[in-house]
Amino acid sequence: MLPGKIYICDDEEEMRRYLRKMLLSHGFSVETFGDGASLLRRLETEENGGPDLLLQDIRMPDMDGIDVLKRISRLYPSLPTVIITAYGSIDSAVEAIKLGAYDYITKPFPKEKILGVVEKALEREFLINENRGLKEALIRESAPGEIVFASRKFREIHQLTLQVAESEANIVIEGESGTGKELIARAIHYHSPRRERRFVSINCAALSDTLLESQIFGHIRGAFTGAVTAQKGLLDEAGGGTLFLDEIGDISQSLQAKLLRVIQEREFMPVGSTKPKAVDIRLVAATNKELATEVKMGHFRKDLYYRLNVINLTLPPLRERKEDIEPLTGHFIEKYSRRTKKRVSSITDDALRLLHQYSWPGNVRELENVIERAVILARGEQITADLFPLMTPESDDALPETGETSLESVERLHIMKILKKTGFHRSRAAEELGITRKTLSKKIAEYGLSLPGEAHDED
Ligand SMILES: Nc1ncnc2c1ncn2[C@@H]1O[C@H](COP(=O)(O)OP(=O)(O)OP(=O)(O)O)[C@@H](O)[C@H]1O
Ligand SMILES: [Mg+2]
Repeated sequence: MLPGKIYICDDEEEMRRYLRKMLLSHGFSVETFGDGASLLRRLETEENGGPDLLLQDIRMPDMDGIDVLKRISRLYPSLPTVIITAYGSIDSAVEAIKLGAYDYITKPFPKEKILGVVEKALEREFLINENRGLKEALIRESAPGEIVFASRKFREIHQLTLQVAESEANIVIEGESGTGKELIARAIHYHSPRRERRFVSINCAALSDTLLESQIFGHIRGAFTGAVTAQKGLLDEAGGGTLFLDEIGDISQSLQAKLLRVIQEREFMPVGSTKPKAVDIRLVAATNKELATEVKMGHFRKDLYYRLNVINLTLPPLRERKEDIEPLTGHFIEKYSRRTKKRVSSITDDALRLLHQYSWPGNVRELENVIERAVILARGEQITADLFPLMTPESDDALPETGETSLESVERLHIMKILKKTGFHRSRAAEELGITRKTLSKKIAEYGLSLPGEAHDED
């Protein structure tokens, strides 16, 4: 049986108690309401997802059940509702169905009847959601996310991306973790003549050599122990489209030789087979290593490197394009406030300054995570600095690499770091810095450091 949260709205206390007891005993979670007004109030202030199903009496003293239903169908158009009606008021039941109620049930009803209707309604809701999920997954698979930037560096990359997308050239995308390699790979496919065919992606570092090989090339029946049926490979699946080889720096020599064959001969052999299969594929490979260095060290075949690296896109780390921080932050605020249905819409100047001071070793992905978390924790419409996890400005042992090596700027950063560490507790920070609280306050003013809400302060 599907678990589910059910709301019951009925003015008869006895009926509420009866339904509640029965549904609870069948594993549902239940909330009851004695009138339409309190039900609507609850639905309007719902925080973590509303109910999965509503059981609603149609005749209630304070508000006509039909009116309640009208308002609910506006607020929650997809909430399945089952109407409870007294024997003889079929007309209003019919009207309710017209308004989008899922079903109705007439009083008095046996227990089995109501359970049957409830389960059917929940099952339908579940199937609809699942179906929606599948469709969304398919669309997600083909359309790249929006690419956001303001820096000249990234604009050049973006232009080059669109330009090379139209060609048939294989492409290598290099860049630190989280710089947007997969996003760019999807954009290449999406803007290529292959867009109607599939974009298939595989992470070469996540699988053992044998598994990776059979995933990419497929295998024939009996190719190895456990291969009870033949299996198509990703090269078949992505035929006519694009195969994205993520973390290609990690593949074995034998796999490198096989990929070279795919590029040179446009054919491959499934594991265990001796019959070559033709393939039409574009390869986009990504790596967070420098492939040229891997070649020099003899870890990566030179011939494969040249065949893959017809075009090279190197994505700069976020710390080298800080102009992108602000637009990306705005983009992620919008994305996550939509997803969490919260009204967070902007960020304070202080908080933004902190984001600029940090070095972002995890690049855009790390920024995305920080903003997602802040949106979830935010209480108002703005993101404030106290919503961020401890982000030490620049790295611990190195000096800031922005050329700021003056004693003053290092002191400023250090003070900020200790303040963050102590949760902006001035006395504790002063103690740790080995200065008086007064000196600290003076320096804070001098450097124009703005602190998030001075909640921890004693004054
Ligand atoms: N310019 C950008 N605009 C909008 N979103 C971006 C941008 N760059 C990266 N992102 C987002 O940041 C996250 C990480 O990007 P992506 O997965 O493409 O990085 P990656 O380089 O493949 O990382 P890894 O090396 O860790 O696999 C994704 O959610 C992506 O949508
Ligand atoms: Mg990736």
